[in-house]
Amino acid sequence: MQYKTINVSASRCYDIHIGRGLLAKLGEFIRPLLGECRLAVLTDSNVDALYGNAVVEYLINAGYNVCKYVIPAGEASKCATNLLAFLNFLAQEQITRSDAVIAFGGGVVGDLGGLSASLYLRGIKYVQVPTTLLAAVDSSVGGKTAIDIPAGKNLVGSFYQPVLVCCDTALMDTLPSEIYRDGCAEVIKYGMILDSALYEKLHALPFDRDEVVARCVEIKRDVVQQDEFDNGIRGLLNFGHTFGHAIEKLSDFAVSHGEAVAKGMVIASRMAALMGMCDVADELSSLLVEYGFDISCTYSSNEIFESLLSDKKRRGGTISVVLPRAVGDCTLVALELDELKELLTKVMA
Ligand code: GLY
Repeated sequence: MQYKTINVSASRCYDIHIGRGLLAKLGEFIRPLLGECRLAVLTDSNVDALYGNAVVEYLINAGYNVCKYVIPAGEASKCATNLLAFLNFLAQEQITRSDAVIAFGGGVVGDLGGLSASLYLRGIKYVQVPTTLLAAVDSSVGGKTAIDIPAGKNLVGSFYQPVLVCCDTALMDTLPSEIYRDGCAEVIKYGMILDSALYEKLHALPFDRDEVVARCVEIKRDVVQQDEFDNGIRGLLNFGHTFGHAIEKLSDFAVSHGEAVAKGMVIASRMAALMGMCDVADELSSLLVEYGFDISCTYSSNEIFESLLSDKKRRGGTISVVLPRAVGDCTLVALELDELKELLTKVMA
């Protein structure tokens, strides 16, 4: 079986394996890291229906004692109620400090699994097994874990690195096209922020999934290694996300993360054009449309501005926004709230 391994050297060092069919090797990959232990698999109802039995069987066959907890699929599951319920499950199953959580799913499962692992017994090990393109290229790498609270998305969480990421790209064959497309928004984001060669490749559809996932993971790894705790360059990964999160929240999460990020990247690019930084908005918009994104925005500049005020990136009177200087070259710009409001009004007129 062919696969690529990318090593992350952060507060914890770990490997990210990427390739088709890797789920069957999960137990083998875990063995040197965890030895004899119990594994608590967290997954969601969609993934469970397709691969729940397979993952448990692979792990049992590899000699592990396994228990499984299934949450309903969807962003609404990334909540305090499910966090507490899963923590209780870990306690009921008598999971100890030498055991581990396997987060088997997309971003919601990865975040909830990672945050639970960081809290339970003040921290146990966990493994990310992403099943969506979005989780593979973004949320499973870099140790950000969180839940949503009514005041906003990802407002409660921790930085907590996994001991391993096992990315079986064949699992993405069964993803509904709109869920796969959500991941494509993040892939396009990587090209825009740091890699024009990757961006150019994305014009040829469909892209080579393994190659593109590996390149995105390498980019994220490089960023995380420089700024694990998100005090500087890691902020670049939020290109499109500041406005995107605002749109997601305004839509009560009816607009998916990828679609919201796509809209957010277009707003940021138009803002950069208005500020005289560069003019890539039309080019980026046409690529996003090629991928099937609806890049229109039905919310007013005022609604987006109000929604932005609870953003984690706000520092007192400023909010940092990622803006392009060119394809493959983005930068963080701290904008005063008044300035941001004025720019948004112009961009969305
Ligand atoms: N998803 C953005 C980050 O990991 O920093």
